[in-house]
Amino acid sequence: MYRRQFLATSASVAGCLASQPSVVLAQPLERLTSNVAAATVHPLATAAAIEIMHQGGNSIDAAIAAALVLGVVDGHNSGIGGGCLILARVAGGRILAIDGRETAGAAASESMFVQNGKADANLSQTGPLACGVPGQIAAMHRIHREHGKRPWKELFARAIAIADDGSPLSRSSARTIASEATDLARFPASQQIYFHPNGEPLREGESFVQKDLARTLQAIANDGPAWFYDGEFARVCAEYLHGMGGILTREDFLSYQPVDREPIETPYRGRTVIGFPPPSSGGTHIAQMLMMLEPYPIAQWYREHPIRFFHLLAECMKRAFADRAFWLGDGDFVKIPAGLLDPAYNRERMKDFSESSASPNVEHGLPPGAELEGKQSDRTITDGVDGKHTTHLTTADRDGNWVAMTCTVNTSWGSKVTVPGTGVMLNNQMDDFSIAPGTPNAFGLVGSQANAIAPRKRPLSSMSPTIVLDDRRLPVMTCGAAGGPRIINATLQVLVRTIDLEQSITAAIAAPRIHHQWQPDQLVIEDEIGRDTDLAISASIRRDLETLGHSAKTSSGLAVAQGIQRLSGKLIAAHDPRAQGDSSSSEL
Ligand code: DON
Repeated sequence: MYRRQFLATSASVAGCLASQPSVVLAQPLERLTSNVAAATVHPLATAAAIEIMHQGGNSIDAAIAAALVLGVVDGHNSGIGGGCLILARVAGGRILAIDGRETAGAAASESMFVQNGKADANLSQTGPLACGVPGQIAAMHRIHREHGKRPWKELFARAIAIADDGSPLSRSSARTIASEATDLARFPASQQIYFHPNGEPLREGESFVQKDLARTLQAIANDGPAWFYDGEFARVCAEYLHGMGGILTREDFLSYQPVDREPIETPYRGRTVIGFPPPSSGGTHIAQMLMMLEPYPIAQWYREHPIRFFHLLAECMKRAFADRAFWLGDGDFVKIPAGLLDPAYNRERMKDFSESSASPNVEHGLPPGAELEGKQSDRTITDGVDGKHTTHLTTADRDGNWVAMTCTVNTSWGSKVTVPGTGVMLNNQMDDFSIAPGTPNAFGLVGSQANAIAPRKRPLSSMSPTIVLDDRRLPVMTCGAAGGPRIINATLQVLVRTIDLEQSITAAIAAPRIHHQWQPDQLVIEDEIGRDTDLAISASIRRDLETLGHSAKTSSGLAVAQGIQRLSGKLIAAHDPRAQGDSSSSEL
């Protein structure tokens, strides 16, 4: 069984902030005229979510149905071969943070990707060593067991039908099959699914039929997660990986457990922002940045001096990401200082903030109670990728159940390994560990010993499902994103825009964003989003930021966010115009 070495760690990180613990309050819900809502990156997944709520299901059923459909029609981003984090506010007021992150196998080691003294990122990103034990099915089953309304089996019906009958291949799936063709073609079952018999990759709009995946989903629908973790799938998968030099065993599958985590609660301008604790870094750093931001007149700066607004955000991002690289890892294995979430510590972090220049040498801080002993800092300078993989989906219903769920196989098509006869593409989440000191991962992130590989450890994530409560602890907004480390900053900006700037969730998600992840020391700016509109980050703002000392780089798209807001008696769902998603709300 999964052993939790530092059981108290993630809870104590949250505990420092838990001035308002997750108590159950039976608050009266206002009557909403639009009272079911869903947003995902694919219209078929959004439709599946809304459909199940109209058939008597709640938003938990809806999120699961949508996630399963996404695994069929959007498999380059997420699927049952990957993991997920589920943050939910359930009717009555309880907050759940269910960790379905992948785990390293028992035979994993710090040196498993090191060859001839050098870490080989090809091994952590592609092939049989790149995957951890998938957690998505276990996490979805965990929340459904207590909080779902419709039978487990019913939630699979739409996904099975789409896999069996086929659906037009989406533009993003077609693009990523083409861009990853060389690696996908190395694995026979992937070759068979994603290519024509003549070796040509499938193209956008072509019918994409996945009979093996339909059978796998049917088996899990009938027999539950046991089929996956303790049955046919675990056996076939472990044997196949072993034959290719992989290390995951049936025992690794059998011992997989989703974990109930203690959510992180941060008071911010009269609201409570709820985030996901380690092994995600998202909740921690969003909380840190909100604490850094709160003393500043953000709304006024945005209106009167937009340059100051973006500069302030960038400086908070640098400081939070410097702490991420140094302190964060799986809280069940390493001590993450609770002091990271101390408001005084975060105010102190901003002491050297200057309105007139970018801080040149930001380093990690020393939170109260933290020990530096034996820890080393890494400053490898590298460039990240701008890719968009992973997926964030969200659902809400008239009973006050709200779900924020981020699912991922990590980079496009994960490890590229499909388990023969199952249609299941395995993740490459092992690359989210620091595979060696100073070696950047696919997102250019470096980490410390805290995120080193260890048997049955979970790699650090940036996934940031977030829910905001009002002063009566009723949900008013939820958001999250895909985009590696950009997830954290995109989610922060949606929060700031809805809370400080009072923008609608739709405008907040559509607005251009910036991103700074400390290393590389580079401020990435979306200069194409909203171009020629009032929202745009204009060339003159960019020049002014450079004058302050930021090294600016432009990007055509940073992260893909989804969200829901309760506003004027309605649930409003919003999907990101940067992807071909869909959002919908209606009255039941
Ligand atoms: O958990 C994480 O932080 C990453 N595996 C997420 C990957 C992701 O968002 C990919 N998008 N570019």
